[in-house]
This record gives sequence, structure tokens and C-alpha cells, in this order.
Amino acid sequence: MTTPQPLPGVAESYWMATTDAPRWPLLDADTTADVVVIGAGMAGLSTAWELAKAGRHVVVVEADRVAAGVSGYTTAKLTAAHSLVYDRLRRTRGEQGARHYARSQQAAVERVASVADELGVDCDYETASALTFTTDPRQRQAFQDEAEAAAEAGLDARVVTDTDLPFPVSAAVEVAHQAQFHPRKYLLALADDIRARGGALYERTRVTGLTEGSPCKVTTERGATVTAQNVVIATHYPVFDRALHFARLSPRRELVVAAPIATAAAPQHMYITDDMGKRSIRSAPLDEDQRLLIVTGESFTPGTGDTRERFRRLDAWMHEHFPVGATAYRWAAQDNDVSDGVPLVGPFHPGARHVHVATGFGGWGMSGGAMAGQLLASALTGTPPEWAGLYDPRRLFSTLREGSTLVKQQAEVARHFVGDRLKTSHVDVVTDIPPGTGAVVRIEGRRCAVYRGEDGATHAVSARCTHLGCLVAFNEAETAWECPCHGSRFGINGEVLQGPAVRPLPARKI
Ligand code: FES
Repeated sequence: MTTPQPLPGVAESYWMATTDAPRWPLLDADTTADVVVIGAGMAGLSTAWELAKAGRHVVVVEADRVAAGVSGYTTAKLTAAHSLVYDRLRRTRGEQGARHYARSQQAAVERVASVADELGVDCDYETASALTFTTDPRQRQAFQDEAEAAAEAGLDARVVTDTDLPFPVSAAVEVAHQAQFHPRKYLLALADDIRARGGALYERTRVTGLTEGSPCKVTTERGATVTAQNVVIATHYPVFDRALHFARLSPRRELVVAAPIATAAAPQHMYITDDMGKRSIRSAPLDEDQRLLIVTGESFTPGTGDTRERFRRLDAWMHEHFPVGATAYRWAAQDNDVSDGVPLVGPFHPGARHVHVATGFGGWGMSGGAMAGQLLASALTGTPPEWAGLYDPRRLFSTLREGSTLVKQQAEVARHFVGDRLKTSHVDVVTDIPPGTGAVVRIEGRRCAVYRGEDGATHAVSARCTHLGCLVAFNEAETAWECPCHGSRFGINGEVLQGPAVRPLPARKI
């Protein structure tokens, strides 16, 4: 192993770097609420805000910081156009399913605009078209079909070949009246308003237990509890999985690089393609003359492959295709894909009466989170929207919709579960680990995840993920241990950075 070379840009998301980090208290005493929302990202805060506005007393508990998880590291597109989704929905969920998807997602885009307006928050909300493009001429028919399906579903959609990208495309589906924004400016304003409406928010408060009933009780790691009639689990990947949702969810991580670009040279709209290892493009306002070009791509399963190399590839692609300045920021985003491509929002499991979940936004968590807020708040206050059934997590498995994806997903998990245990350790001895990197080492018959700091000090923890026991792998570019099975992430001292795991990797003596 060799010592890693520095990557371009500051390792921080632009959204995090340009907003203050307000400190909310820890939950250190038992409390009660009408509804407790677990998770303070886009889905959790949107749900809590809608409920607070409807007069419910809400308590929000967040394991990390408010709006600092996935929602602090998104690309922040607000759109009902989710790559090539409508033609597939038309085939798998019928014309009404496609219409319900379009209506609910477009309503979410518009809801964010109206809430921002109501709260008087300047969250850099900009209306733009969302374009899904291909550079492969063989894909033209698929794009034609998608545009037809999206228009049939009620969106303002068409096929175009002229775009304001600095390279030619073979075809693009353009959906008008979509938006982009600054997610942290919006979410921090929502959090303040929840408190102003009598709600309470607690951060650095990890939930570890849930007792279902009437009322329900949520237990946190320091022992304090929240007793509430209803519980909403909006923790990205559900921290409890009584319905085996993990069998339907697969984690996906994507990298982001951002650099200043002259306003005149910046694309005016939002773009995405599955070509070239997936690329997503948008820009955000910087100053009068410049915008920040934000390019996302290099989709991968957490804990696999060389993330540094992926960052370099993505950064090189941005500089090759756009007249940008030096790379200013780099970060990564993670989301979960559902095997049938439709988020899971609604009752947690078939017997659940008071516990609800919102997960599986497949990279579209801004519109998906706002949609989940509207759906869950309406359901909990009496009248679910007509499109609620589309997202019901209790829907039965369908061979047509998800058979091959599900089989592939589970084969992948099984491969990591069994295969990674049989693999030889990444290195034989701890002294083979260069400063600034980590590796899995077998010590006295046990697999240990060992990180060596720049100062040479070692940090050793168990390499077995505390969720279901797969082996973690080191992500050098982000200095974190990642589990390839369901996407849990851990810091170098074993602390949980991202679930579904809720317990840290235990320390090991070496
Ligand atoms: Fe499920 Fe690691 S996240 S085993």
C-alpha cells in the first residue's frame, strides 16, 4: 500500500460550508409528543413541519446534527423528473400509477416553493427545466417513449436535442417547471419554525429502541424516552427493520465535485445521464459574475472499489467539459434504491397502526422528502392523498416490477456476507498500513479494521458491521469504514456515521 496523494478541493459540501451549524440540545429527560419523528433530514423535517402546522405537538430526534446527514450532501434538485422513470411506471404500475407519481412529485416541488415563501426564507430557489440526456443515438427511441409517458402522466415534457450543455447530445427528455435550491437554508428555516410552533428538536440523540403500541415509546442511547401516539422513521435507511425493508433496499453512493464557473458559461438547467458512469449537472448562485458548477457521478456500492480514483475521474471529466476554475469542494452523497423504483412511504409493516416510514428515495430525496412530508402528515391528520397507495411500503413483492433487481441485490449482499469473510485480509500485518489509510487485518483469528493516522497512531475496531455482520471496507477518500451490504458507515474509532447500524464497531486492542 502507498501513501495517498491529496485530492482537489475542500472535503466539504457547499451546503454545509455556507450555512451555520445551529446547536440543538441533546434529549436528556423523558418527554411526550403527539408524533415523534426520528431523523432530521428533508423527509423528517418536512413531515414534522407539516404536522406542526396542522397543530400537532412534534418531537424530532436526530442521531447526528439537524440537516447534516444525506440532506446536507445532496445535489439539491427538486424535480418530478427522475431519469427514465415514467415509461417504466406506465408498464409496471399502469397509467394511473405514473400519473400519481407525477402529481405527487410535482406537488412536492411546488410545496417547497410555497413553504419557502410562507417562511420568507431565501433558499436560492430557482425554477429550471430538468433534462435527462443520452449521447448514445441507439437510445433515442427509449427517450421518445419516456417523454410520451411523462407527458401522459401530466408533466410538461418533450424530447429535445438542443441543450445549453457544451457538448452534443443524441436526445434529452426535458421536463419544465422544476427547481433547484440550497437545502440547508431551507431545512434550517423549517427547524426554526417547528420550534416556533411549539415543537422540539434534539440532535446527537441516537434512537436505539422502539416499543409499538398505543402510545408508542422510543428509547434513546442515553436512556431518555419519547412517548408518542405516532412514530415516523425518516432515518434514510430505517433504523429498525421489522418489515425486512432491507431486502428491497440497496445503498448507492455518489461523488460530487464543484468549481466556480462564469455565469454566462454555466448551464441554466439541471441535467442527468446514465452514460459515462452517470453524471448529474446543475449550478448554484455564487456572486454577480459567477456560479458554482456542481457535478455528481461515479455511482457505486459503499465499501467497494477505489473512491480516490473515482473522485479524480469525476473531477477530470468536469474540467474536460466545462470552463471551470479550480475545484472548490468535493463531497459524497448516499441513497437507497428500492427494487421496484418507488419510495416506501407509509405504514411501517403490515400490522403497523402507529409507526410509519419514509425511505428509498433513489437519489431523489429532496422532492421525495417533501412528498413524504405531505403524505405522512395528511395520513396522520385524517385524509391521505389519493396517491398514497402508490408508495405504500406494504405492497406485495411483484416479479414483474422487481424480480430481477431483487435477486441481483440479494446475490450481491450474499456475496459480501460470505465472500468477504473468505477473502484474505487486505494486509497481513498492521505495519503494512501506510499513514492516512486503513485496512482489514486478521489479528489473533479476528478481523480488525485498522486505521493508521498521519502521526502513525493506530485506531483498531472490529471489522464486523454491527447491523448484520458483513465485513466493512475502508474508504480512503472519505476516511470512513463502509459496509457494502446495506450501506452503514463508521468513523475510524467505530462511531456510527450512517445507519442502518445503530451500534458502533467495538474497539479492538492490537
Ligand atoms: Fe447491513 Fe452492514 S449495513 S450488514
